[in-house]
Amino acid sequence: MRHLIDTTDISVAEVDRIINTALDIIENREKYSSVCKGKKLATLFYEPSTRTRLSFTSAMMELGGNVLGFSDAASSSVTKGETVADTVRVIGCFADIIAMRHSKEGAPLVASHYADVPIINAGDGSHAHPTQTLTDLLTIRREKGRLDNLTIGFCGDLKFGRTVHSLIKAMSRYENINVVLIAPEELRLPSYIRREVCDKNNVPTREVSTMEEVLPELDILYMTRVQKERFLDEEEFERLKDSFILNPERMQLAKKDMIVLHPLPRVNEITRAVDNDPRAAYFRQVENGKFVRMALIYTLLQWAQESPAEGLTPRLGDELVRNDWRCSNRQCVSATEDVDHLFHQTEDGYRCAYCEARVKNN
Ligand code: NCD
Repeated sequence: MRHLIDTTDISVAEVDRIINTALDIIENREKYSSVCKGKKLATLFYEPSTRTRLSFTSAMMELGGNVLGFSDAASSSVTKGETVADTVRVIGCFADIIAMRHSKEGAPLVASHYADVPIINAGDGSHAHPTQTLTDLLTIRREKGRLDNLTIGFCGDLKFGRTVHSLIKAMSRYENINVVLIAPEELRLPSYIRREVCDKNNVPTREVSTMEEVLPELDILYMTRVQKERFLDEEEFERLKDSFILNPERMQLAKKDMIVLHPLPRVNEITRAVDNDPRAAYFRQVENGKFVRMALIYTLLQWAQESPAEGLTPRLGDELVRNDWRCSNRQCVSATEDVDHLFHQTEDGYRCAYCEARVKNN
């Protein structure tokens, strides 16, 4: 059974196939209007969401399928103490495919170990958000005509921003990508991504402290919201929340064909006046999210039919190791649920398979 838990669960060729299917859907809506007739998508959203959940719902409806689910953990059996594993075993009897958003990092991976239907990670804590990445890739393809030879600046909350983590992983697999990180010291990109994704794939990556110094060379500026809900210290959030603000004056420094992306919701980090700039692509990005989710649901259901019981989803290039070590990340699903303790081996130690926190050095 194939799932989408992490961007790298699907190869570059498979990403291209999904993007090409999304492009075909855009051109030929009618052709796809009943390809999922009789199929059901369950949306299990344990964390707030507007766009992602409704985007999945509308995607399945446009494919002719049906949708069931919940949009709030408080209205699910989690309040009775049910585990993720049990919930997905049960929902697998009602639905053909599941999209799950959870505040615990790695919860969708746990789900994929127990479900008989494909699981889609719709965002897990501050860890990953692979369907936003597919949305971003489709947008970049449509706006720039390519996914290689690009300089992309990531600005804002690079520590807790799961969309950034997943997109860097995805972009690092294309040729001639340059990454520029624009973040306050406290919200820097997790070092494992810098080391094990950027450095390992020879992606030139540098950190800068102002937008001004880098704007003229960017092809893409990826803005993000400071992730209020992930802060333990409210004062720190207040101090950092307006660190970087994109406004029309700053846009004047950028290339004529640079695009501005943002996964949304936007708070203060892009002023409303930027919305009228043709380079502001973030609302076009939202619509691409629906098309790419249509392509993803359709593709995963096809794969499920072709090879229903393949065991664990293949994490490309990675073998999982079972051990009795414990992950110390309190936001990891392994901190609250009884799960198998699984790890990735890296060059210099081991990382938790659920949240990617380092657990052991060599
Ligand atoms: C993002 C998320 O949930 O991580 N939103 C989304 O899915 N489009 C970004 C955010 O919440 O800031």
